[in-house]
Amino acid sequence: MGDTVPMGLRSWWDERALPHLTHRACQGDDIDRWRRPVCRRATGVVLDIGFGSGPNLPHYPDAVTRVLAAEPSELAWDLAAGRIADFGRPVDRASRDAADLSEVADDSVDTVVSAWALCTVPELPAALAEARRVLRPVGEFHFVEHSLAPDRGTVRVQRAVQPVWGRVAGGCHVDRDLPRMLEDAKFAVDLEQSRYIAPGPLRAWGWFITGTARPT
Ligand SMILES: C[S@@+](CC[C@H](N)C(=O)[O-])C[C@H]1O[C@@H](n2cnc3c(N)ncnc32)[C@H](O)[C@@H]1O
Repeated sequence: MGDTVPMGLRSWWDERALPHLTHRACQGDDIDRWRRPVCRRATGVVLDIGFGSGPNLPHYPDAVTRVLAAEPSELAWDLAAGRIADFGRPVDRASRDAADLSEVADDSVDTVVSAWALCTVPELPAALAEARRVLRPVGEFHFVEHSLAPDRGTVRVQRAVQPVWGRVAGGCHVDRDLPRMLEDAKFAVDLEQSRYIAPGPLRAWGWFITGTARPT
């Protein structure tokens, strides 16, 4: 949505419509095939960046004792109520912005998880610095994301669509080089899967990556 869109419509879209759309779109077998293997590696205290309506919760193993959610959307948090109740272990909203985890102590988190959220967090370098601060030195950061494509043709499309896409999709970036940004934040990155999940021009949204980042 351009800057000519009235603020009322813009905030309705961002605050009322998008959380519902995300809640519906980010579930189901196709998406869970990517989500499940990432979540099942979590243990202990988990920081869930971009918690949304809690779609990771059903996939966390018993070894997860507590979840700290970083999520700005009030509506997404409300939509998470059922999943939180079913989870049966503590889920606390530790922050409304992953770039400010001041309520979370240094070295107090065993696992950081991000599912399609690093594309959207506005101050990503600050958020990754916070994730590294709160993660124990032996902790792990597991992610499933869409990222900057490996081929120049798709990158050109990503750069072209980004200005409009960012506005309609709540600040989502299709052109962030997430492995490099994790490395810049002093993580060593082990990519597990990286491949296109969509054909043709849709590849701009479809370079999916999963992996683990460990503090260096
Ligand atoms: C594409 S959704 C993914 C939600 C969820 N992780 C999932 O897998 O469905 C991106 C999420 O990042 C959240 N987000 C946006 N800015 C954020 C910030 N500064 N800190 C933490 N989360 C943020 C959005 O509100 C949204 O819930």
